[in-house]
Amino acid sequence: MEGVKTFIEDHKERFIEELKSILSIPSISADSAYKADVYKAAEAVKHQLEMAGADKVELCETEGFPVVYGEKIIDENKPTVLVYGHYDVQPPDPIELWHSPPFEPVIKDNKIYARGAADDKGQVFMHLKAFEFMMHSNQLPCNVKFIIEGEEEVGSENLEGFLREEKERLKADTILISDTSMLSLEHPSITTGLKGLSYLEVEVIGPNRDLHSGVYGGAVANPVNVLCKMIGSLKDENNHITIEGFYDDVLEVSDEERALIAKTPFDLEHYKEKLDISDVEGEAGYSTIERTGIRPTLDVNGIWGGYIGEGAKTVLPSKAHAKISMRLVPNQSDEKIRKLFQDHFERIAPNSVKVKVTPHHGGEPYVMPIDIPEYAAASKAIEKTFGKKPVPVRAGGSIPIVALFEDILDLKSVLLGFGLDTDAIHSPNEHFGIDNFLLGIETICHFYDFYAKSEE
Ligand code: BES
Ligand code: MN
Ligand code: MN
Repeated sequence: MEGVKTFIEDHKERFIEELKSILSIPSISADSAYKADVYKAAEAVKHQLEMAGADKVELCETEGFPVVYGEKIIDENKPTVLVYGHYDVQPPDPIELWHSPPFEPVIKDNKIYARGAADDKGQVFMHLKAFEFMMHSNQLPCNVKFIIEGEEEVGSENLEGFLREEKERLKADTILISDTSMLSLEHPSITTGLKGLSYLEVEVIGPNRDLHSGVYGGAVANPVNVLCKMIGSLKDENNHITIEGFYDDVLEVSDEERALIAKTPFDLEHYKEKLDISDVEGEAGYSTIERTGIRPTLDVNGIWGGYIGEGAKTVLPSKAHAKISMRLVPNQSDEKIRKLFQDHFERIAPNSVKVKVTPHHGGEPYVMPIDIPEYAAASKAIEKTFGKKPVPVRAGGSIPIVALFEDILDLKSVLLGFGLDTDAIHSPNEHFGIDNFLLGIETICHFYDFYAKSEE
């Protein structure tokens, strides 16, 4: 790509200002109070696509928030890259822990701080700017279509229908997504796997009202105590998940592949230091990077019940609740795991309580083979920008729509992400490195070049 570095250098101030403007829109899909802002963010993406020179740009309405579509078809005989991303963001809570307001982007230490900076507005923006450059310099080497959605952070529930209905319009040869992270700028990596997800809410129901914890304590089951014990029993002393059948479908990774994973330039000391923890914890027999990449996990995401106000109220609560997620690996399936969890949870409940299990959204895992042309193009693109060949790494996060892209559109997705695990996505003080942002733009341009060449 002729002149891409210079173009980025010459325009970076403007790119950052434009990114700031989109980051200042609180497009929180989970909170209905922000509905108008979610639409505003969709309009902003639409405007960017139009300005860059995309055709047929429109907001495609769904039952929920719209999908922003745009395309540039230069030649029917050339390959088509379908770019996916999301303009919605997670709620910023807990807001008091932010050092600057989440929707007033600021730059500090060469990083841009705002909700959505890395997940995923900042990364979507790299694509908009890469496209702008290729259009501006007349170097777009293949066709491109964009679908930028507004419901990823709430499970992409309406996107499946959109894919089915718009299958023809979305015809492409591969999918390109920047919504994941790299090991570091020194050790660039390509994400070759995403976890599936089973998310459930449990309720443990005890006596028909809150009781005096002295009058009844020790004699009537306390749902909070019971819930804690039940959750505690979901893993054994080796941190193996105890749900019967949980591991049945897990595709064991070969010794060969594990030997490769062991060579990943992952710095455990740095990892612990960044989290301010003295030690890591996880399933016995696996390294940290294996625990997050190739092994299924189970976590409580939230737990509540009883008195949590100021001071001490002596009460034996009538109910206890928890939100529990399981991250899945090939070939586990969300539906089957949910069922196993529900049966197990009901079975281990003592007679002194009732339990209720309610499913939330989920999704299936995804793996990308590394012997396909789109992986090769991504690898070459990174090598060209970073001067180093990237290593494949499987992520612990989930993008449920990716497995559906394969089922419905029969396309593989290339996960060319430029975030870092330390970007604090979904946490207070989310940020995205300016260098990551700029190098990302450059790499995306190279990707198109290598991919178009490989498909000639
Ligand atoms: N971009 C993330 C997923 C991600 C982050 C993958 C880092 C790999 C590395 C995405 O926006 C996300 O947060 N997904 C959710 C699932 C969704 C159903 C809410 C997740 O992983 O919890
Ligand atoms: Mn994301
Ligand atoms: Mn996210």
